[in-house]
Amino acid sequence: MQCHHFDAGRCRSCAWMGQAYDDQVAAKQRHCRGLLAAWPDLTWLEPHRSREEGFRNKAKMVVAGTLEAPTLGILDPSGAGVDLRDCGLHEPGLAAALPALADFVTRAAVAPYDLATRRGELKHLLVTRSPDGELMVRFVLRSTEPVTRIRKHLPALHAALPELVVVSANVQPEHKAVLEGEREIALSPRETLAMRVNGLTLRLRPQGFFQTNTEVAAALYRQGRDWVEEVAPASVWDLYCGVGGFALHVAAPGRLVTGVEVSEEAVAAARATAEDARLPGLRFEASDATTWAQAQEAGPELVVLNPPRRGVGPELCAWLEGSGVGHVVYSSCNAVSLARDLAALPSFAPRLARLFDMFPQTTHHEVMVLLERR
Ligand SMILES: C[S@@+](CC[C@H](N)C(=O)[O-])C[C@H]1O[C@@H](n2cnc3c(N)ncnc32)[C@H](O)[C@@H]1O
Repeated sequence: MQCHHFDAGRCRSCAWMGQAYDDQVAAKQRHCRGLLAAWPDLTWLEPHRSREEGFRNKAKMVVAGTLEAPTLGILDPSGAGVDLRDCGLHEPGLAAALPALADFVTRAAVAPYDLATRRGELKHLLVTRSPDGELMVRFVLRSTEPVTRIRKHLPALHAALPELVVVSANVQPEHKAVLEGEREIALSPRETLAMRVNGLTLRLRPQGFFQTNTEVAAALYRQGRDWVEEVAPASVWDLYCGVGGFALHVAAPGRLVTGVEVSEEAVAAARATAEDARLPGLRFEASDATTWAQAQEAGPELVVLNPPRRGVGPELCAWLEGSGVGHVVYSSCNAVSLARDLAALPSFAPRLARLFDMFPQTTHHEVMVLLERR
């Protein structure tokens, strides 16, 4: 993929921009295999490739510039805005929505936040697109001051973007480089975006996590389901379950599946999906995964792990070691913490691994491993 922003040196966010896609996938595979070299018996399946461009379902745009000419993109080293609304990584439907959002900033007079002077209100625009083409837009603001104006002008935004179904304001009052704050104010009747994946409708709330590349996420869930089906366990825990992607995919008659996730909102969304889909034997708990596992009388036959970049850590690994769990499906976005966790699980032999290229043009990767108790 070629990018004129990269070529001009305006944006270097994609470290591997311009490199042949085959080489990128091979390099990621080499990187992951190298980090997991301590397990030479591990069989690596063919990497799952992505579309090279137009794959991101979420745009995270820093808003800068002026009220009359806002920029949506990143900041250059001097703190000035660089407009990247035509970023080729975004799904085309997402990119097509950004000009209307820039116009809205001007129309509703929501001044872009200026880092140097600490003036202005609008820090970021976060936009997510569902596989059905619906949009969720979040205005990350310094204060609630512009909320009334945003509400007043929303009908014009809906007219320009009929696919817009979820709108909210997020308040991030601190002067630091954080994407969003804790407070979210709903500005639309609907508060969830329906993310249809492999025939299941996952519900994404404004502050919820969703895998960045919907097509590759669907493949990841299918692979997880296939491995679980091969083991055919009667009980499964999906730890770090988010809105329930893995748990919902592995639900089956006669199988008890428990999803555990720290975000109460995500758990509520997962429960609603399970109820709508009339899936049997599913429950979801809002808790820290390690604390929850340690408090249970008995473990399940199989555990799915899909933690944040830091991995699951020594305590949960110690619990898994001492448990009766027979298999683990571990999906990781960081092979370094994955390798560390696997080293803390000597009772388990990693059998199969597969790279999922969730993030082309960047060094980031997703890798999934099937472990079996020795
Ligand atoms: C990489 S995401 C995976 C989500 C989900 N499996 C999916 O496919 O969308 C990691 C999830 O772990 C949750 N999380 C972070 N720390 C946690 C903890 N200590 N205990 C349980 N869940 C946690 C996050 O809220 C996030 O939803």
